[in-house]
Amino acid sequence: MRNVDVLLHRDFEIGVTDRRLFGAFIEHLGRCVYGGIYEPGHKTADKQGFRRDVLELVRELAPTIMRYPGGNFVSGYNWEDGVGPADGRPRRLDLAWMSTEPNSFGTNEFIDWCRQAGIEPMLAVNLGTRNADAARNLVEYCNHPKGTALSDLRRKHGWEKPHAVKFWCLGNEMDGPWQMESKTAVEYGRIAVEAAKMMKWIDPSIELAACGSSGRNMPTFGAWEDTVLEHSFEHVEYISLHTYINNYAGDTPAFLGACDLMDSFIDEVVAIADAVAARRRSNKRVMLSFDEWNVWYRTRRYRKERVKEGWPVAPPILEEIYNMEDALAFGGACISLLNHADRVKAGCLAQLVNVIAPIMTETGGPAWRQTIFHPFAHFSNFGRGRVLRTQVDSPTYAAKYFDPRGAQDLYYPLPSVPYLKLAAVHDDKAGMLTLFALNRSLSEEMPLRVAAKGFGQMRVDSALQLRHADLQAINTREAPDRVAPAPLDGVRVDGEQLHATLKPASWNVIRVTIAR
Ligand code: AHR
Repeated sequence: MRNVDVLLHRDFEIGVTDRRLFGAFIEHLGRCVYGGIYEPGHKTADKQGFRRDVLELVRELAPTIMRYPGGNFVSGYNWEDGVGPADGRPRRLDLAWMSTEPNSFGTNEFIDWCRQAGIEPMLAVNLGTRNADAARNLVEYCNHPKGTALSDLRRKHGWEKPHAVKFWCLGNEMDGPWQMESKTAVEYGRIAVEAAKMMKWIDPSIELAACGSSGRNMPTFGAWEDTVLEHSFEHVEYISLHTYINNYAGDTPAFLGACDLMDSFIDEVVAIADAVAARRRSNKRVMLSFDEWNVWYRTRRYRKERVKEGWPVAPPILEEIYNMEDALAFGGACISLLNHADRVKAGCLAQLVNVIAPIMTETGGPAWRQTIFHPFAHFSNFGRGRVLRTQVDSPTYAAKYFDPRGAQDLYYPLPSVPYLKLAAVHDDKAGMLTLFALNRSLSEEMPLRVAAKGFGQMRVDSALQLRHADLQAINTREAPDRVAPAPLDGVRVDGEQLHATLKPASWNVIRVTIAR
């Protein structure tokens, strides 16, 4: 491949990454909670039943905010079922995943788990089968200090201090027919506003995310955001986006190009949100919460199959096993999020453990890192700071991406995918410039030249790559480190120019210290 050139300047930035960009998601779904983060009786469990081996991996992964309790699950959830003495909690049929929910783990346990992990909680309220009243009651239970029935109930349950949850989601995927009590945009817009008003009257310090479309390929995408924001603009800080990248077609170049559609999706939602602002002559900017994103296409739990299986507690469902090429597609998504740091202010990798997750566990056994664990850990640990504008001069390829979910057009043309996808983050405090670089060529090495202007003296701090000769390689209980980062040799700095050679089909993280 010919030289690939990147130009950047210290003073030209896209935006500063918000801490909340690096979040993840725990849903009452399969073995995410039960057998995932929570397994009383496991040999590493603490006295609350939290698996310490999982907590250790979570700390290494470094998510910053955690969405809970769903997902589709939240649209049928009674939060009251999950608080109070554990032995008095009801078992319920969960119609989202056709499972039995024992409710042994609920809001208070989740908050305790977040505190242990050093993670900010993000709670979603049920705007499917419940309403604004249940939502405001949950805010009062969690955040009101004391002296009312609900705040005193929390204290009676053993949590004296308010949970001070700041970030709340107004329902989940309310446009999707699979959702319990899905809604039209007008119906949802109305209930979202009424819930938002009351929730903020109880605690004016909270921030709210309205549901955007559950995917860019929903037939109502665009019109949905416009109508929902037309109703809720004054009451919310965020609109949500969801994307699951797939490789149903077995077309790796298209799969690796799909993250570029995330860029388009973000730009389109920004345009709609700003159009709603323009109609009001408002300078308020609604920010984006990309609160579900990942690679996901192999595992589903269709209602028909679920019924045959009965109503198990925590069945092993949606346990996607990620391979090397999934990690590359996933890394591309991380770069898309970084390069929109000006407007995407929160993000949640869906999900955390076992269910389409970076961490896998065996119930009663060990926990290990899936391939996608690594790009996320790099993204979160090294992605804090000022994302710089970059000009990339790379050869391109053409592809067509197949995305069947609810779409009218099943194929999305990608006429010009640059082989290089890159983000550059400058952490001024640490004096570090980090380059995240994906070489999407499956066969050719990429000679990369980065002209980094305005930094003065630079020195290579570290460089690593994630790659494997077999794009189908996976990590397993027996071989948990088959796909793991390794040093990237040969990176050098020459004045303002950085040189590296990126292997075909590789995810690379190059860190450069800057003399100040
Ligand atoms: O993350 C799995 C599911 O995907 C979530 O429950 C739902 O919101 C989405 O459709």
